[in-house]
Amino acid sequence: MVSFTESLDYTAPGLIILPQTPQLIGLYTKIRDINTSRNEFVFCSNRIIRLLVEEGLNHLPTKEHTVTTPTGETYNGVSFEGKICGVSIMRAGESMEMGLRDCCRSVRIGKILIQRNEETAQPTLYYDKLPEDISIRYVMLLDPMLATGGSAGMAIEVLKERGVPEDRIIFLNLIACPEGIQCILKKFPSIKLVTGFIDKGLNDKNYIAPGLGDFGDRYYST
Ligand code: PRP
Ligand code: URA
Repeated sequence: MVSFTESLDYTAPGLIILPQTPQLIGLYTKIRDINTSRNEFVFCSNRIIRLLVEEGLNHLPTKEHTVTTPTGETYNGVSFEGKICGVSIMRAGESMEMGLRDCCRSVRIGKILIQRNEETAQPTLYYDKLPEDISIRYVMLLDPMLATGGSAGMAIEVLKERGVPEDRIIFLNLIACPEGIQCILKKFPSIKLVTGFIDKGLNDKNYIAPGLGDFGDRYYST
């Protein structure tokens, strides 16, 4: 029997954790490993991102859609309703844009540049550029790491100021921790948070532990 550490079993309304399959755990093992090359880190992160995007899309509304197949029979299916857009929290969130584009070809993507202070972990908002009609869209908010929740919280405030209702925000995230989840879901109880893994918590530098270090630095090799 192979044993491995799974995500914390944390339940909260609006929180969705990807199924802890051996495939997913194998990918997390690679990206957590300090000895993993940048190439492999990017490859494995992109595979997890794809799974997060596919799961996120399950939380969009659908309507009935019946089609005729080449056999002449009908099939009662669904089609998606409503418009979407992506919003990445720069810089690390930009790594998730391609995964979203792979599933939604011409999706509009907005950007919010937030950087957290390396000493204090406090976030600063520098810039945002969002689709004009964002208030009528479902927003896939992209950021791989949810640590204290300061950066994501600031980004969600920006979206709300632009008129995006909380229940139209789907936050896609690779690694979260209880502190960040509590912070976000307490302030914004109607959002959906889709994560691949919940770690045990923050260390004394406000990094996720065991985590994977600085996602942006490892993905972009800086
Ligand atoms: C990282 C990460 C999140 C934030 C998480 O970004 O991508 O945005 O930290 O931490 P928090 O939950 O405590 O706010 P960072 O500001 O390090 O910038 P980067 O994207 O350039 O790496
Ligand atoms: N940002 C990261 O990239 N990693 C952490 O653990 C916390 C914030």
